[in-house]
Amino acid sequence: LDADYDECWLRYPRVDDADRRESYARRCLHVYAGETSPQHGAIRDELREGLEGILGREPHLWQHPPRSADGFLVVGQPDLMEVVADSVDAGMVRSLDDDGYHLRSTTWEGAEVTVVTAPTDRGLVYGTFHLLRLMATGEPIDDLDVVEEPRNAERLINQWDEPFRGTVERGYGGESIFKWEHLPDLRERYFDYARLLASVGINGVVLNDVNTTRPERPGDLAGTGEFEGVDLLDEQHLPKVAALAAVFRRYGIRTYLSVNYASPMLVGDLDTADPLDDAVAAWWKDKVAEVYDLIPDFGGFLVKADSEGQPGPYDYDRSHAEGANVLGRAFEPYDGRVFWRAFVYSDHDDRAVQAHAIFEPQDGDFHEKVTVQVKNGPIDFQPREPVSTLFGDMPETHLACELQITQEYTGQGVHVCSHVPLWEEFFAFDTHADGEGTPVTEAFAGTEGEGIAGVGNVGEDGNWFGNYLSGVNLYGFGRLAWDPTLDGESVTEEWVRLTFGDDPEVVETVTDILQDSWEATVDYETGGLGLIHMMYNGEARLENHYDPAPAEWPGYTGATEDGIGYDRSSSGSDYVDQFADPVAERYDDPETCPDKLLLFFHHLPWDHELDDGRTVVQTLYDNCFAGVEEVKRLREQWRSLEGSIDEQRYRHVAERFDEQVEQAERWRDTLVEYFHDYSGVADERGRVPLA
Ligand code: GCU
Repeated sequence: LDADYDECWLRYPRVDDADRRESYARRCLHVYAGETSPQHGAIRDELREGLEGILGREPHLWQHPPRSADGFLVVGQPDLMEVVADSVDAGMVRSLDDDGYHLRSTTWEGAEVTVVTAPTDRGLVYGTFHLLRLMATGEPIDDLDVVEEPRNAERLINQWDEPFRGTVERGYGGESIFKWEHLPDLRERYFDYARLLASVGINGVVLNDVNTTRPERPGDLAGTGEFEGVDLLDEQHLPKVAALAAVFRRYGIRTYLSVNYASPMLVGDLDTADPLDDAVAAWWKDKVAEVYDLIPDFGGFLVKADSEGQPGPYDYDRSHAEGANVLGRAFEPYDGRVFWRAFVYSDHDDRAVQAHAIFEPQDGDFHEKVTVQVKNGPIDFQPREPVSTLFGDMPETHLACELQITQEYTGQGVHVCSHVPLWEEFFAFDTHADGEGTPVTEAFAGTEGEGIAGVGNVGEDGNWFGNYLSGVNLYGFGRLAWDPTLDGESVTEEWVRLTFGDDPEVVETVTDILQDSWEATVDYETGGLGLIHMMYNGEARLENHYDPAPAEWPGYTGATEDGIGYDRSSSGSDYVDQFADPVAERYDDPETCPDKLLLFFHHLPWDHELDDGRTVVQTLYDNCFAGVEEVKRLREQWRSLEGSIDEQRYRHVAERFDEQVEQAERWRDTLVEYFHDYSGVADERGRVPLA
């Protein structure tokens, strides 16, 4: 089937090396796979398409072991297939995590057999994609003995798709792919999206934006009447949700919904949403039961409450735990839960302090069926932030961490900016919550109800993402959510090989560009010393958070004539105190605070000297200029690939690089002038004030 869009990393091109292809064919041209579950259907489809691409010939699919073949691939659970039970340690497979799997090369009755097995059908889906990935990147499969289990139980995509508009909030890859007005009719794109997600190990998808309150005047596509009154929890829309859930189910992915806290009033006809009101509790119970009737494997709800205009328990003077628990209790009979976001402001002057001040005191009060979902940093997906202090400080609560895959603050649909290195830095952070060696990942790893959510980045564009290279962010997110200890560079290289093929020059160049892209963005958008929140916040949807406008936010940068930075030390807002020692001590002292976060924690004189002898203001200038030079260098590297990759993708990225360079210059110029206006200090190298 020809789709009018890119296949991303599921291209399955024919393997050039004839010997290698032969060895794959010997082991995989014949496939014995089950046919009894929706996941089996997905596995058979994927193998048909993938193997045909890779081997250059159509595979044969069997419902029993193909005894005449010299070799075959078998995909199934040990308890349901004799060949599998004979070929692996069945007890070991049964004991794997539900999403785990095992790949093994062996022989069976004289035939060379490749086994993909798992304790569940979902594990079989992941195992199948793993095997295809090995072949698509030309790796040998004659001697496989792979055992995989995810390090995080919950690996969710949070779509910020706005059903009442058909658009995506902070989405730069076009309109929403979900066409609510046409559902339950299905589009091929839904299946392909599910394939992309399952191929990197995602096991849940929240279909709609956390901002569920419909705007007074629905924008964009409104006025057509099509989107008015869309509420996914109502009787009209739940069957549509069920239709999508069936697509995702085939790939082992569970479906979730963002819900409005005032739903008992908006969807139901109660006159309150007070969590302590019996009628409200009963309403949620009934609603959840109604959902499970239609979608037996429903994943749960995601809630943004008491945040940025959304209703919540505060409307009734109730706490977040009280607010969340009424929902949690409604999930008691089911295998599902509530993800309750900690992105909540309070009236404390320092926004960094707020979420912790609200949530940490409620540690232990949240229902078993509630997960508190915390953004990686204390502010809001800035190019670089310290790690949120809630991680490690809520041991009695199920936690999930929320990352942003979409590039709201890092160049949106234009800039090349891989978040993989950002996430690696985050995952490696040692909270010291349980003494030295307590990486932040431990705060959300392990048990059911804990894991990682990522704000999605796909839309209706032909290439799904806006910027073609932004595909690495979805791919990298999935792979790292599965295992945050994976090496980011290897994950990136894997994506490049699957996406662009294995020409060594292309692989190395694109990998290097992506790996260096984030630090470049941090330099030109922040000056590289921990400043944040200097972006434009106007009405126009596209420029919003894309252009620089530091003067709009005096409170965030702390710029004065005397100095710059926000004092979060013990003599300031004391945000540092929320960290465990020795992290708190390290951040509290400008001498030991890492330069990259220095001005996040300290307000320092413009001429304060850093270790290398340069002043704060000079370093800010230098970094802003260096960021632009770095983007130019990355653009040159990309240009060196002309002719080595197809014209269409080459041009697409080259054009975006041109715009990125201009935009980086705009950021640099705006920031250095801003620093100069306050400090009055000229650049030692004569670049500022600008000519
Ligand atoms: C950011 C973003 C909003 C979003 C919010 C959230 O502030 O700009 O669009 O709604 O985060 O995470 O809820």
